[in-house]
Amino acid sequence: MKPTVAPFPAARLRRTRVSPAIRGLVRENTLTTDDLIWPVFVRDGEGIVEPVVSMPGVVRRSVDKIAEAAVEAQALGIPAICLFPYTDPALKTEDCAEAWNPDNLCNRAIRAIKAVAPEIAVMTDVALDPYNINGHDGFVVDGEILNDETVEALVKMTLAQAEAGADIIGPSDMMDGRIAAMRSGLEQGGHRNVSILSYSAKYASGFYGPFRDAVGASGALKGDKKTYQMDPGNSDEALRLVERDLQEGADMVMVKPGIAYLDICHRVKTTFGTPTFAYQVSGEYAMIQAAAQNGWINGEQVMLESLLAFKRAGCDGILTYFAPETARILNG
Ligand code: PBG
Repeated sequence: MKPTVAPFPAARLRRTRVSPAIRGLVRENTLTTDDLIWPVFVRDGEGIVEPVVSMPGVVRRSVDKIAEAAVEAQALGIPAICLFPYTDPALKTEDCAEAWNPDNLCNRAIRAIKAVAPEIAVMTDVALDPYNINGHDGFVVDGEILNDETVEALVKMTLAQAEAGADIIGPSDMMDGRIAAMRSGLEQGGHRNVSILSYSAKYASGFYGPFRDAVGASGALKGDKKTYQMDPGNSDEALRLVERDLQEGADMVMVKPGIAYLDICHRVKTTFGTPTFAYQVSGEYAMIQAAAQNGWINGEQVMLESLLAFKRAGCDGILTYFAPETARILNG
């Protein structure tokens, strides 16, 4: 007898794709406003909102305008804002003292946001580059980036941010030993509930180009950041960094850049099961916007697809310049 072969495919996987209702039922990962951290650029002055040319749709705001934006973000349900200062070049020095000035731009912006949008978690970036005359994240002596001296300065910077009201400290400097030093500084300073989201796996990437324009650091940077940021060829090293940062007291960790490093996000999440974030950086944002402006891709579709991809890779959230636009769409 001839074996009976079903006259139809044994598994019709298309059946779970037939309608939006069924696709929704079986969808494994979703993007929500709870996943968004919005990076914003702050500058001095008043009433100023100026475009960042290399990041269409992104602006630098004076402190009063940052406060307004935070109120808007709170209304949109965005849980956190991350501040990046565009520092007056006259305040950039070799000793980077402006970094721990209690009244520097970043700290003024933290206080302004806390006064009007108390529900938003304020995250900061800890690294010396906005204040350093040579654009590096650490002190430079004879061409070398000093590790331990930089860490001491980063602790002072962290404490000034915590005093101003920061909820989440984001060390992006890639020095060794910084998390332990910051954690103990925070504990001793009475900031037990201030958390640390470490830029644990931060790569020396070409994708940061537009950001350096946005904060006015591209002209200043001498050389590259390869002696402290990671080599893009490495993956195991990212796990060692995350493990080390968790042991030193990091509450959450980050992979940066994002879309080209989803394998790292996935390995970090599956290995440690710890809150894991990705930073969809300036260059990623600029590429999507540029292609969309040329009509080569559907910008909105690619924006949402790229953010969902981070969730699928295992991320709990994403730092993205698209946060407000995404929240508006998700809120319907
Ligand atoms: C600085 C810092 C950088 C970014 C965040 N923090 C730039 C760099 O390391 O040179 C990049 C963010 C982006 O490209 O959107 N420590």
